Amino acid sequence: MGTPLLRKAYDFETFRKEGIDLIEQISEHLEKTISGTSSQVISWTKPEEEYVFWKNYNKQAHSSEDFFRTVIARSIHTHHPKYIGHQVAPTVPVSALATLLSAQLNNGMAVYEMGAASTALERIVIEQFTAAFGFENGDGFLTSGGTLANLTGLLAARRAKSSTDVWNEGHGQKLAILVSEEAHYCVDRSARIMGLGEAGIIKVPANEKFEMRLDVLEASYRSAVENGFEVIAIVGSAPSTSTGVYDDLEGISAFAKAHNLWFHIDAAHGGAAIFSSKYKHLLKGAENADSIIIDGHKMMGTSAITTAVIFKESVASYATFEQKAQYLWEKNDDPDWFNLAKRTFECTKSMMSIRFYAIINAYGLKFFDDFVTTLYDAGRSFGKLIDQQKDFELALQPISNIVCFRYSKGKQENINEINQKIRNTLLEDGEYYIVATTLQGKYFLRTTFMHPFTSEKEMVGLLDKIRGVAGS
Ligand SMILES: Cc1ncc(COP(=O)(O)O)c(C=O)c1O
Repeated sequence: MGTPLLRKAYDFETFRKEGIDLIEQISEHLEKTISGTSSQVISWTKPEEEYVFWKNYNKQAHSSEDFFRTVIARSIHTHHPKYIGHQVAPTVPVSALATLLSAQLNNGMAVYEMGAASTALERIVIEQFTAAFGFENGDGFLTSGGTLANLTGLLAARRAKSSTDVWNEGHGQKLAILVSEEAHYCVDRSARIMGLGEAGIIKVPANEKFEMRLDVLEASYRSAVENGFEVIAIVGSAPSTSTGVYDDLEGISAFAKAHNLWFHIDAAHGGAAIFSSKYKHLLKGAENADSIIIDGHKMMGTSAITTAVIFKESVASYATFEQKAQYLWEKNDDPDWFNLAKRTFECTKSMMSIRFYAIINAYGLKFFDDFVTTLYDAGRSFGKLIDQQKDFELALQPISNIVCFRYSKGKQENINEINQKIRNTLLEDGEYYIVATTLQGKYFLRTTFMHPFTSEKEMVGLLDKIRGVAGS
């Protein structure tokens, strides 16, 4: 059975040869990037050029080895200590190996027998999270990314708090959530997907420290109620993406309790701080949350995309997607923990638990403490360094590993423009990778320290590079 081509595609000897070669290539790439000996973090090309390159690529035959090498060369190098931009972690190699394994095993995870090991490991990983947050009766699951996880958390909120059964009957009333104007855009997107509309997303202004303003919460809530909205949830950020600032989670939880709201925390970036003895205090109040999401591929070193959604009460992790799928489950109302598609948005999903568990197995939970603590320390050190420079200014004192700053020498009316030019030139230059954000109308350069070995040498080098670009 099968064709010669199919036999060739599944030949295990070819896999062994190409696999060994790929591991060699990745190891070489890791060696060059992690030590910072390769000169570029990114070899910038315009999108059209990149497209044309790949369009032309298969006009000639290429080996898999060549294909993999070319992909590596034309991709951003998150393992380079000068990669200080977006919040995607340089994968811990053992987690990448687990991802390779999951890609080949391709267990579908929807029902227990389609991923026995990974399903049990998912439960164990979730138990580590619920224990760390102090949720004695907690539960949860892994899902594909922070965006989907926030949607899932908000759907659970609607299930628990809406006075009507929206899941079965559709919207009977206007629902609303309260969320900081600084929250990640995916919270807004999730609420729109849920049919809340723009008016149902009550944006709470941030204070001068970029935290959600607690002093205006009551007024925002009252005004929504007077306008006929049923407010179901309040969302805290831990931290918010642009600035790395944690909302006052204790204050928000007190407000949620007083008004019987679901308290959801978007801790995609900084939930991992719960494992850091030095920084867990930033999550004070999270023990009162109803749901929390944490990205493994941000501050926990797993490969993307791997997100935990945890609930204070285990029932919430089953109730959201109560739906008949009889071909998958014999007894649909049995909350069997091992049939994960009952609880996740996805049907088929990847074997995410092994990406976490490979790290825990090799290095223990201590790895997450070391990782978060090292990176948050780096953010704060960079903040101190900038404070000592006359030609740079900080947007705020960094709380985490996200640092917003700008070059401040020159005519004040041109500072936004100068910094935009700096960011664009750095991107095209490719030695350092940083990003940018706009805060209260001002354009800031934005760095996220994601690499455990980015040191003062790279920090000083970046500032010198920026000076060079600004002066050119
Ligand atoms: C605070 C926050 N929430 C959610 C997200 C979205 O997460 P993901 O990219 O895993 O979908 C991000 C991504 O940067 C984030 O910073």
